[in-house]
Order: sequence, then structure tokens, then C-alpha cells
Amino acid sequence: MSLGFMALKWAIWFMVIAHWIKPVRPLSTNSAQSLPKNRSDSYTVALHKALLFFNAQKSGKLPKDNGVPWRGDSGLLDGSKLKDVKGGLVGGYYDSGENTKFHFPLAFSMTMLSWSMIEYPHKYHAINDVKVGGAYENSKVPDDFSCWERPEDMDYPRPVQTSYAGPELAGEMAAALASASIVFNDNPTYSKKLIKGAEALFAFARDPQKRRPYSRGNPLIEPYYNSTGYYDEYLWGATWLYYATGNVKYFMLATNPGIAKNAMTLRWSKKTSILSWDNKIPSSLMLLTRVKMLYTPVKSSENILSEYQKLTGFSMCSYLKPFHLFNWSKGGLIQLNDGGPHSLQYVANAAFLANLFADYLNATGSKGWFCGTKFFTVATLRDFASSQIDYILGRNPLKLSYVVGYSNKYPNHVHHRAASIPSNGQKYSCKEGYKWRDSMKPNPNTIEGAMIGGPDRFDQFDDDRRIRGSAEPTLAGNAGLVAALVSLTSGGGGNGVDKNFLFSKLPPP
Ligand SMILES: *[C@@H]1O[C@H](CO)[C@@H](O)[C@H](O)[C@H]1NC(C)=O
Ligand SMILES: *[C@@H]1O[C@H](CO)[C@@H](O)[C@H](O)[C@H]1NC(C)=O
Ligand SMILES: *[C@@H]1O[C@H](CO)[C@@H](O)[C@H](O)[C@H]1NC(C)=O
Ligand SMILES: *[C@@H]1O[C@H](CO)[C@@H](O)[C@H](O)[C@H]1NC(C)=O
Repeated sequence: MSLGFMALKWAIWFMVIAHWIKPVRPLSTNSAQSLPKNRSDSYTVALHKALLFFNAQKSGKLPKDNGVPWRGDSGLLDGSKLKDVKGGLVGGYYDSGENTKFHFPLAFSMTMLSWSMIEYPHKYHAINDVKVGGAYENSKVPDDFSCWERPEDMDYPRPVQTSYAGPELAGEMAAALASASIVFNDNPTYSKKLIKGAEALFAFARDPQKRRPYSRGNPLIEPYYNSTGYYDEYLWGATWLYYATGNVKYFMLATNPGIAKNAMTLRWSKKTSILSWDNKIPSSLMLLTRVKMLYTPVKSSENILSEYQKLTGFSMCSYLKPFHLFNWSKGGLIQLNDGGPHSLQYVANAAFLANLFADYLNATGSKGWFCGTKFFTVATLRDFASSQIDYILGRNPLKLSYVVGYSNKYPNHVHHRAASIPSNGQKYSCKEGYKWRDSMKPNPNTIEGAMIGGPDRFDQFDDDRRIRGSAEPTLAGNAGLVAALVSLTSGGGGNGVDKNFLFSKLPPP
């Protein structure tokens, strides 16, 4: 693969993003001061905020009305030393509280946002203002991890990584472009371009010569976004490509028992329940179960689809407290990563999957599903989803919203360079910036809508800017939160999923 293609890839990529999230204006502050009584209203308020976080993370030249007054243009020279890239690396999104653009979690985030738009287009249409459409650890050299500077003031080298291998990165980006191509259905030229990019990336991912994990041994990536395997991206990429193109060859791949076996064990494990940027098995199984439930599946694949459906059903059971397949905090938060860092991103993803599955069931006219011999209604799943999102929004022992700017009590020492340094025209150097990271004072800038890492397994949380695992927001975390909130809101003339939009490229059943 030539660098020329890589350049095209980035260009397509940033086009997707530029089209995607138009500036979102915050709602009037009145409506946000306290938890509204009406749950659906509260989810809508939170959704507006959660989307605003993506504006705060923008890199490159910002639109005039970006909705985040303390952010400005930044990273305008990104990639300028690479002749073939020609400015194609300017733009995009900073991943978290650092000023790095990691494409692996970014692609996952974009796929999740696309997915939620495809399932619930009517709800997005109903929302005002939203249009649907690296560094070395312990380095001696100044860089993104050893400096604490606003992105607008960055004055250290910004190394660019080019991938010549990496099935998981290519597979995830294929999923992102394929899902975006469905979102952009109403623009056939653009949609075709996205499919072309997705197919090329997926071919790269499947190339036997390129099957080296993208993060392994890379000191710029492995400590931050290590990928533990690429078979889940095969399932995920193939599934989205099937939906994007209608080509059965992708469906055969996504239901290939060998690939399924390599990706998981075809028996339930935590891996089939815990969706994250590093594990797309639950989401792939969910989407393939959707084929089984709401479309006429290809005959030869019926057996394996039944297996996928069973696993998905079982994963839904695993979210229910009585089964105790996961621990729960006393305050009611499911412990999907056993008190590890960034606990809430897993919870938000699980809430999305649960409510989505409830919607799939309801769309088939089913009242529920079985866990062993016991029947549970869809309401059980909806209660799980809303209980977890309510916890995130403040119904927890600390009465603290983990989404910044939501309700009247939220963290204000968020681990975030731009939010923690005043935006007053004064520039702080690489090391001077640390006085802001280590300051006991609240952040001078409120990063509206950012869902931070989250509490520990005892429902405790230290509002301490230095602790990334609890005080840092990420794109992937917010993308899952957005998906869950969209799923839980009502409005736009229907609460359930749009049955057909996802199937629009497939032949009529
Ligand atoms: C709650 O808010 C939603 C969205 O604004 C609205 O459709 C619904 O009727 C409200 N429910 C109640 C009980 O007020
Ligand atoms: C990254 O994941 C691989 C595979 O699971 C593992 O062998 C490696 O130790 C991980 N690296 C880090 C830094 O955790
Ligand atoms: C629950 O937590 C305990 C204590 O930390 C641990 O030993 C156990 O493995 C956890 N159970 C599950 C299902 O994760
Ligand atoms: C569930 O399905 C019924 C019947 O098709 C429909 O009227 C209702 O709106 C659906 N509810 C949700 C929350 O999707």
C-alpha cells in the first residue's frame, strides 16, 4: 500500500468527520441546572451536552461558531513534514485530555455514532441544532505526554505514525467508513466513495502479509490504546460492509465459523458481553442477531446466526443483577472492568446494547427473552439501561453527575489540558503548564458534556486532575454515552428503532 493511498484515506476520513458533527449549541443554562423530573427530558438535555464534547476536542481550523468559546485553531502544521500527506492530517479530534489524535479509538467512536444514527434517525432529526448527515512515555524530548499545554499553544514536535500493517486499525476504519456510507445514503456519490475506502481498508486488514497487530511494540501507541487481537475487527468490519454493500461475501465472512472461533469461543465469556474500543464482539453479534430477528437470513448461515442470537441473549442476561456474572457496586453500578480505569465507558456501551436489544425484541412483537428457563420482559433491559445512565447522570451515592455541566454537581478538576489552562492569550510552556494540572483550583474552562473516567468499585471518586483513569474524558466514552442517550430518549415520532434504514442496501427479504 502506497503512501498516496494513505493520504486519500485520511482525506476521506476527515471529510467524514467534517460533515458529521455540526456545531451544537448548548441549551439555555436554565434547563440544565437540575435533574428534570421527566426522564426522557433529562436524557435529551444530557444528549445535547454529550455531543458538545466532540466540539471541544476538535483539532485544526475551527468553524466560526464552534460552541466552545475557550477553544481555537490548533495543530495546523500536523503532518506538514510528510510530503505525501499534504495537510491531510490537519483537523480531526483530540482523543481525550491529551492532545493526541489516536485513530483507533476515533474510528470506533465514529462507528458508534453512525450506528446510533442508523438505528434512530428519527430521534436525531428531532433534536434541534444537530444535523444528521503521539508521544513517548517518560520521554526526555518534549512531547504530548511530557508537556501540559493547550492545543492552541503546542510547540513540541508532533510525530505522525503511518501504518504499514495493522488489521485492527484498518478493520475498525473500514467499519467506520462502511457505517458512515449508510448514514450518507442520501448522497450516493459520497456514500460510494466511503464504501470504496472501506473495501480497500478491509482488504488491507485481511491481507495475510499485514497481520501484525498495529500497536504491538509501538511505544507511541501500545501504552495507551493496545489492541489485544484483530478477529473482532474482522467480524465488525465484515458486518458493516455487508450492510453497506449488500454483498453476501461479507456476510459469509462475518458468519464464518473459523473467524467466529478465533474471535471468541462460541461460548459465553466476558468478551461476548463487554463492548469497548478494543472488543467489538458484542456489537458484531448484536448486529448479526438483528439480521436473524428482523430480516430473512441466508439459509446456510442459520445455525451460526442462532448461535450468535443465543450469545447475545445470554450477554443481556449477564447484565442482570440476579445472575451475578459481574460484580455490582453498592450504589448500583455494574462493574464491567472490576474497578479498573475508565469504568463508565463500558457501562455506557452496555446500556446502549441493552436498550437496543429491547428495541429489537419489541420490533418483532416479542415481549422479552429467556435466560435459561426464566423469561424476562423488555422492561427489564430498559430498566438496566436507564438505571446505569441515571447513575452516570447523578443518581449515585455521591449525587454527582459524571457528565460535566449536567445537573448542579459535577467534577470540575477534569484531566484535560485545554480545559485546565486559562484561555487568556497567555502562553505557558511545556513545563509551566503543569502548575495548572497540579492546581487545586477548579478548571477555568467547563468542558460541557464530557463524561469522565468514573468512580471506583466502591462508588468513590476523587475529583483530582492528576488521575487519568477517573478524571479524564475520551471520545470513545462519550460516543457510547451518546448512543445510549439517543436510544433512551423518546421523540421524533417513535421510540423504537428504524427497522429498515440499516437494511436499505440489502435486497428485499
Ligand atoms: C417527557 O418528555 C418527552 C420529550 O420531551 C415527551 O415526549 C413526554 O411526553 C414527556 N413525558 C411526560 C410524562 O411529561
Ligand atoms: C498488548 O496486548 C498484547 C496482547 O494481549 C499483550 O501481549 C501485551 O503485553 C499488551 N501490551 C501492554 C503494554 O499491555
Ligand atoms: C467480584 O469481586 C471479587 C473481589 O474483588 C472478585 O474476586 C471476583 O472475581 C469478582 N467477580 C466477578 C464476577 O467479576
Ligand atoms: C413497541 O412496539 C409497539 C408495537 O409495535 C409499538 O407501538 C411501540 O411504540 C414500541 N415501543 C417502543 C418503545 O419501541
